[in-house]
Amino acid sequence: MTDKATKPMRILSGMRSTGRLHLGHYKGVLENWLTLQQNHQCFFFAADWHALTTEYANPAIVKETIWDMLIDWLAVGIDPEKSVIFIQSEVPEHAELHLLFSFMTPLSWLERVPTYKDQIEQLREKDLGTYGFLGYPLLQAADILIYQANGVPVGEDQVPHVELTREVARRFNHLYRQGIPPLFPEPESLLMPASKLPGLDGRKMSKSYNNTIELSEDWKTTEKKIKTMPTDPARVKRTDPGTPEKCPVWEFHKVYSSEDEQQWVQHGCTTAEIGCIDCKTCMLVHMKEELDPIRERRIAIAARPDDLHDIVRAGNERARHEASRTMDKVRKSLKMSYRV
Ligand code: TRP
Ligand code: SF4
Repeated sequence: MTDKATKPMRILSGMRSTGRLHLGHYKGVLENWLTLQQNHQCFFFAADWHALTTEYANPAIVKETIWDMLIDWLAVGIDPEKSVIFIQSEVPEHAELHLLFSFMTPLSWLERVPTYKDQIEQLREKDLGTYGFLGYPLLQAADILIYQANGVPVGEDQVPHVELTREVARRFNHLYRQGIPPLFPEPESLLMPASKLPGLDGRKMSKSYNNTIELSEDWKTTEKKIKTMPTDPARVKRTDPGTPEKCPVWEFHKVYSSEDEQQWVQHGCTTAEIGCIDCKTCMLVHMKEELDPIRERRIAIAARPDDLHDIVRAGNERARHEASRTMDKVRKSLKMSYRV
């Protein structure tokens, strides 16, 4: 994602807390958040209610993973001095706005969101035929609009959710607030390109494929995973030449290694001058340089839970303050402020 905006924007993004974060999250999402927080006012939150849409039968998972996720954010450099970091369910105003939106949102708008039917198909074992799952993108619209955000960094699959958010904003403004400026700005998607780093087996890095490198694991674990990850199957013996394009390690080199090193891999692999362990070791040096400091910070943050709680408490308060100001205006627009 290139950060083209010249004016500082109000940015909002959330992440569901359903498992430990891995390098795919770092390369695909968190690095973009880090760029945005340099020049914009960012609100980043743990979407624990959204996590419940799929994990309603195991709420303990949501609770367990939420702190790990917040530690990961801080460890990679999400900075509470610059950005507001909070937990969705600590700002119950999101739920109130979601409810109010639900009255004015045609069912057909929700039924046609592509993630809706896709996910029901893909996650058959979870029984997503719930009211809450249909309303998932509407809750997301409330998350975004309650902060009057202008920019929402999202992956491609979430773009329709931001589009729905724009429609909901327009409908609300039209029904209740024709003033200038309207109450809800129409937010734009800031598309984050998918991470170029695949999983250990060359497929997309994902917990469900069991091919991840977690931010919270230790270096020994990472090293072992890389040393045992598959390479071009043509290289059975050390003397068999290979083709980097057929090897997931090459994708890692493209992310981590210099031009010169990449040429060394190309030449060495195709001529069998280097072995796969040499090749992996070269990449591992760079990966270690990136991961060591993150993991050191992770350990330091985890050792001070009180400080972490202070950060999140302050973020929750700040978010609640913003959200309640918007809700006052929303209630007034709906003639629902009974000051008795
Ligand atoms: N639905 C998003 C996802 O699965 C998470 C999310 C919830 C979100 N609320 C949001 C993202 C608001 C951006 C803005 O990734
Ligand atoms: Fe893959 Fe490197 Fe081995 Fe070639 S030398 S097959 S690129 S690990």
